Amino acid sequence: VLILGLSGSFNTVEELLVPGLPRGFFHDSAAVLVEDGRVVCAVEEERITRVKHTHTFPLNAAERCAAQYGVRLSEIDEVAFFFGENFLDDRMADFALGAPDMPITGARRRIHELLGEQLAPERIHFVQHHSAHAASTYYDSGFQQALVLVMDGSGEEDSVSVYQAGQGGMELIRNISESKSLGQFYFHATRFLGFQLFDEYKVMGLASYGDASTFRGTFRKLYDLGPDGSYSFDYRRMDQTLRSEGIAPRRRGQGITSEHCDFAAALQETLEVIVTHMVGAVAKETGERNLCLAGGVAQNCTLNGRLAASGLFDAIFVHPASHDAGAALGAAVHRAAEVAPVKSRRRRTMSLGTPIGSAEEIQSLLDTWAGHVRYERCADIAGEAARLIADGAVIGWAQGRAEFGPRALGQRSILADPRPEENKTRINAIVKKRESFRPFAPAVLAEHAAEYFDLPNTAIDSEFMTFAVRVRESHRPTLAAVTHVDGTARVQVVHREDNELFWDLIRAFADESGVPVVLNTSFNNDAEPIVDSAADAVRCLLTTALDALAIGPFLVRKVADEPSGHRLVPVLLPTSAIRVMPETSGAVRYEVYERAQPFDGRRTVRIAAQAFAALTASEGFPSTEITPPGVDLELVEPELRKLWESRLIDLVPTRAADRPAEGS
Ligand SMILES: [Fe+2]
Repeated sequence: VLILGLSGSFNTVEELLVPGLPRGFFHDSAAVLVEDGRVVCAVEEERITRVKHTHTFPLNAAERCAAQYGVRLSEIDEVAFFFGENFLDDRMADFALGAPDMPITGARRRIHELLGEQLAPERIHFVQHHSAHAASTYYDSGFQQALVLVMDGSGEEDSVSVYQAGQGGMELIRNISESKSLGQFYFHATRFLGFQLFDEYKVMGLASYGDASTFRGTFRKLYDLGPDGSYSFDYRRMDQTLRSEGIAPRRRGQGITSEHCDFAAALQETLEVIVTHMVGAVAKETGERNLCLAGGVAQNCTLNGRLAASGLFDAIFVHPASHDAGAALGAAVHRAAEVAPVKSRRRRTMSLGTPIGSAEEIQSLLDTWAGHVRYERCADIAGEAARLIADGAVIGWAQGRAEFGPRALGQRSILADPRPEENKTRINAIVKKRESFRPFAPAVLAEHAAEYFDLPNTAIDSEFMTFAVRVRESHRPTLAAVTHVDGTARVQVVHREDNELFWDLIRAFADESGVPVVLNTSFNNDAEPIVDSAADAVRCLLTTALDALAIGPFLVRKVADEPSGHRLVPVLLPTSAIRVMPETSGAVRYEVYERAQPFDGRRTVRIAAQAFAALTASEGFPSTEITPPGVDLELVEPELRKLWESRLIDLVPTRAADRPAEGS
């Protein structure tokens, strides 16, 4: 049985069914294809539309999954959606009251329409949100018997759900209301520190710099612990309580003070206290020794590390896609388990997405960039890449099928030497261009993991960067670029049988340097999600200061533009548009703006008339009423390059045949 799991909203880039959908209502759209309970393909919509955390309906991802598996959407047996039907219908009816133009369409009908009416409405199934998260982590854990803890912003009504899972399926044994949401707790404190949704990981990183005792008393006023593992808390009163305690919210752009770090430390400690209290009581009550985690809060690798060190469990499995994209996976597996028994099998890899392509496909792509890149085909790409890294290079690494989930795990990674501390600032300057309160993560050969890291006695799935563990004291000076201020690291343990090419690279780096560890961070710049396709990887190489790109068997470097090269022409992205805005003076201004950017606010950039004309005239762009004046691409190139770097437009090489002959 083929089941397509989906997460996302009912909006598309072109059509906002729900206008003004609140930020964070739905996010992390994805499609996951499951055959007889086994995941065969999983893709996040953001990787294709190139809009981070996008909530738009995952049609591109669904089509990618179907194509990858060699079927049409109409050939899929069932769809499983990541929220309950009544909940969705109620919410849409609520939205419709505030938006009289919005058609009243039930979730089932809307999904049917969005999938091009290729699947009969009765083949669409709905899975309760926390059941979907729970199924993702239980069926991927390999545990036969386990407690399953789901914590996120909220599902339909609950924000925490605890299940007891075994051969007979999953039984809900505790559920905690939305008002006690630990996801909301962390998010509201994140806002107090001047950050926004999806910045929670920055606050977690900041916490290690602070002293929790400064604000422990303040945070203590927010909650109480019950003897049975329960807790009282109400996030709706939290902001007011913090303000009444004299805490001033930090404004964006204000410096980070030691008080802010102390606040973050108390926040992190509070989360750990409440979760340990709750889960400890349930473990005692049920006698369960295995724990599975999922939901957005399970992305807190410091919390996960604390749980692993607590000794409460023999084994802990944190799902590598604990965010809502993972609920698409879980919805499909949950439905599969209703159709036929599914066995829990330990997941070894998240390499479930878009393939990078054959050597021939990559080479023909690279050839279109002649004059902008040069490349060589290597017999041993892992060895070549390792030598470059050992010589101080920071490289892009794109191999095999892309990872599903928020972490790059050696398929779409930026790699560097983990030893020099300055590599932290260097990589931030080269590509990330943002404040980072956590250093980059280490990927270590499994054979040497215990030598460098103090792994807990509790068995953990250490392959997915979901736990912060202690770097052994003696190795902290060696691993300066990947050790956090508190001596921990978000480690990835690499087994040869799971990812041979990446293992070979680290092995070769160890031969060069004596250290079986590389620095691994996601392959993207600050304006985009992780690269997915070969074209994305080349674009990222050309728009950042990366030293090289290892893609398939090819080692690729930038060259200064040569006149023999293909000329670059600008094209608008599906998510951006241009417009002419009148000014009060009677003049006009030209702008490029984002059409569908749900989260970071829609970016608008003023551009010169010539750049506007270049975009208007670009191939494939529908004609506008503005007649483009003569366009001199060279004149506007610096401006176009800036827009390219910020991913508001694309620059693509003209095909050789389209290039006017010399001197014409
Ligand atoms: Fe969720």
